[in-house]
Amino acid sequence: MARQTRLVLWTAALGIFLFILLRLFGQQPHQATLSSSLVFQNKEDVSSTDEKTQEIHIAAIVCGNRTTLGLTMMKSALIMCSDFIRFTLFVDNETSGVLNETIQLWPDNILKRMSLDMRPVSYPEDNTDEWKTLFKPCASVKLFLPSLLKEVDSVLYVDVDTVFLSPPLHIWQHLGKMNHTQLVALGPEMQDHTKGWYNKYASHPYYGKFAINSGVILMNLTKMRKFGWEKYVVRVNEQYKNRIVWRDQDIINIIFHFHPEKLYVYPCNYNYIPVHCSITSLCQEAEQQGIYILHGYYNAFINDHLPALKAIYTSMQQHSFGDNLQMLFVNMKENLMKTPTSSCRKVMSSILKLLMVT
Ligand SMILES: *[C@@H]1O[C@H](CO)[C@@H](O)[C@H](O)[C@H]1NC(C)=O
Ligand SMILES: *[C@@H]1O[C@H](CO)[C@@H](O)[C@H](O)[C@H]1NC(C)=O
Ligand SMILES: *[C@@H]1O[C@H](CO)[C@@H](O)[C@H](O)[C@H]1NC(C)=O
Ligand SMILES: *[C@@H]1O[C@H](CO)[C@@H](O)[C@H](O)[C@H]1NC(C)=O
Ligand SMILES: *[C@@H]1O[C@H](CO)[C@@H](O)[C@H](O)[C@H]1NC(C)=O
Repeated sequence: MARQTRLVLWTAALGIFLFILLRLFGQQPHQATLSSSLVFQNKEDVSSTDEKTQEIHIAAIVCGNRTTLGLTMMKSALIMCSDFIRFTLFVDNETSGVLNETIQLWPDNILKRMSLDMRPVSYPEDNTDEWKTLFKPCASVKLFLPSLLKEVDSVLYVDVDTVFLSPPLHIWQHLGKMNHTQLVALGPEMQDHTKGWYNKYASHPYYGKFAINSGVILMNLTKMRKFGWEKYVVRVNEQYKNRIVWRDQDIINIIFHFHPEKLYVYPCNYNYIPVHCSITSLCQEAEQQGIYILHGYYNAFINDHLPALKAIYTSMQQHSFGDNLQMLFVNMKENLMKTPTSSCRKVMSSILKLLMVT
């Protein structure tokens, strides 16, 4: 009897125990697999969208003697971030070999997060004959990127005489800030009534009060193709060719004069040109937030007319990939202090302070 009771109690206890166990944990393993597979999927989703947004595509034209400038631009973009960068370079015959040889010597950890597509400077196949007579190849490739990069959605075009002083992602993110109508983002030319070139000399229409500079162009190529960008380029060129001075930049200005709603204008520190500091400081954003891209046009990085800008470029050019970034800023500062006092030196040293803090 005692034995039987014990057996019954045991069985009941076991039953209750199993019941509780099932209630408590029965669903759990199922839920666990469900949620872990969800987490797994989330992870996949996140990483794939991450890769998409973090992959930056930079295009440039490297012709003539400008290989060192091109390499310095690429280096600056790479050391300022840890994102993957796709470079598409349109190069002439002499340039491609030197570029290729130099880049192959770059460290593996850098090569791992970049790709390089070198293409000969050329015209889009469909219209070669028409465009050959109208445009010089190296100067006009940037106008024809929508069809030269048919398979590409968006690209950041930079002139070869530019240096990144911030992560390229910073400027790239403006693609997402463009509204439905805007296809291209550009920075302003010199904003000064008495000294601006366009308001004083241009005999053709241009964008806004002071025009825009075409050295750093964020392009949504998909939208540009839809707009029929290249047809406008050819038509504008036909109509205004006798009045155009700065060829590609004037063409872009004329197009956006007639279609201002299609242009997104970012502040002057996204394409910091020498005239923003050569006489007096004309770009407040630079002093407050720093310079995102420094653009040494008129050979400012090579000639000696603006030594402060050259000092920034030269320090970047001499920087090795393995070196510490703070070291680069220290070198910039030292090289800058060796230059004579100037308006550009003052601005550059204020932006270095910002860089050294971060
Ligand atoms: C090429 O570079 C050299 C040295 O930097 C310079 O003397 C020469 O004028 C340059 N040529 C052109 C076409 O820019
Ligand atoms: C480079 O240019 C030279 C002469 O201009 C030409 O003979 C040669 O075929 C070109 N090379 C390539 C790879 O295009
Ligand atoms: C770059 O160099 C590599 C190895 O020397 C070679 O295989 C490749 O074809 C070169 N690419 C260009 C575009 O010259
Ligand atoms: C460019 O524009 C197309 C068409 O509006 C859009 O689908 C695409 O997402 C845009 N690209 C970026 C990077 O914003
Ligand atoms: C986009 O912004 C521009 C400039 O502010 C404006 O003219 C245009 O109407 C806007 N487009 C849309 C669809 O909101």
